[in-house]
Amino acid sequence: MRKKRKNAKGGNSLSMTMVYGLLFALVVVGMVIYYDSHIIAKGQTEIRTSDSTPATESAVYADITARTTYRLSPTPSPTPALSASPIPSPRSALTPTPFPTPRPSPSPTPSPTPRPTRKATPTPQPASDPTSPSVTETDPSTTPNSGSSGTPPTTQNVPPTPASAATPTPTPIPTPVPGEPVYINGFLDPRSVTPEIISNPSSITALVNKYHAVTKDYVPSLVPAKSSNGRYIRPEAADAWDLMREACHEDTGKTLYLTSGYRSYATQKASFENAIINKGLERAVSKYAYPGRSEHQLGLALDIATTSYKTISGSFLSTEAGQWMTEHAHEYGFILRYPSGKESITGYAFEAWHYRYIGVDAATAMHSSGQTLEEYLGKT
Ligand code: DAL
Ligand code: ZN
Repeated sequence: MRKKRKNAKGGNSLSMTMVYGLLFALVVVGMVIYYDSHIIAKGQTEIRTSDSTPATESAVYADITARTTYRLSPTPSPTPALSASPIPSPRSALTPTPFPTPRPSPSPTPSPTPRPTRKATPTPQPASDPTSPSVTETDPSTTPNSGSSGTPPTTQNVPPTPASAATPTPTPIPTPVPGEPVYINGFLDPRSVTPEIISNPSSITALVNKYHAVTKDYVPSLVPAKSSNGRYIRPEAADAWDLMREACHEDTGKTLYLTSGYRSYATQKASFENAIINKGLERAVSKYAYPGRSEHQLGLALDIATTSYKTISGSFLSTEAGQWMTEHAHEYGFILRYPSGKESITGYAFEAWHYRYIGVDAATAMHSSGQTLEEYLGKT
């Protein structure tokens, strides 16, 4: 019984062994098939090419690497690590950030044209520069008097010729003989006419111009002028000068200054001759009186500036003090003697600084009518 059972057990064991062996074989075969089909499918999926050639695993990955490079652009890769940002170009990495386009340096804001104020100071012009514009005039008689004792001078020092060392020898200009009037750029050359010697040089309305003269030795009564550098003027003019100066200061805060008053014949002669040499004949005959024919020889002419700028200048007209003079000088007996637009009557170019004491009545009448002294006196 035991053997049967034993045989029976032996027969069963043989069968079980065969079954197990068969199952094992089936498992092995199945694993082999699964393995092969899995690898091929994986390669085909990742390559995504139309390449139909079977590939080995190493060849597949080599191909993937290469094609990944190709696909960086433009087709974006679903894998961020492969398709993200483009590889920066070494060039762009080295390219420096361009400098901002340089903007032109802001040009200095032009200063607005200064409006004349009481503090406006005209640009000084070189007094001895014969090429300087006629804005600023030079006056040889502004050289301070050597004496300050109060004694009226009979003559004044002749100032040195400006820049004489650098002045080339001028071409001699023939002096016209009195006869036919000679005009230079519209201005009468005084040397071409014989003036009339006036009979009333002490009158405050005396007319002196290119046609009317005082004698060579005429010297008026004179007093020192205040607010000047040792100048002298007629007493009547001095009183009016004081009143006008005080009124101007009260209204504007500016103090008028006398740069030139009385001038002797000798001083006037030097002035005219120096002007011809240093400034030219055209300038001389339009701005400088011939000796004997200057109102300054009457002691009634005042060349006026201010204490803040003690130089005669065309720009004086536009200063606060100059404007005040235009409006009020006649109230004190003064007139602007050589106004613009009257050159053919007065014989001189506009002078912003030259005022003539003529008395309140005459000055007021001329201010109202706009007449020059020649017109007022009927001697044009
Ligand atoms: N400047 C004026 C004309 C004179 O010399 O008298
Ligand atoms: Zn003058």
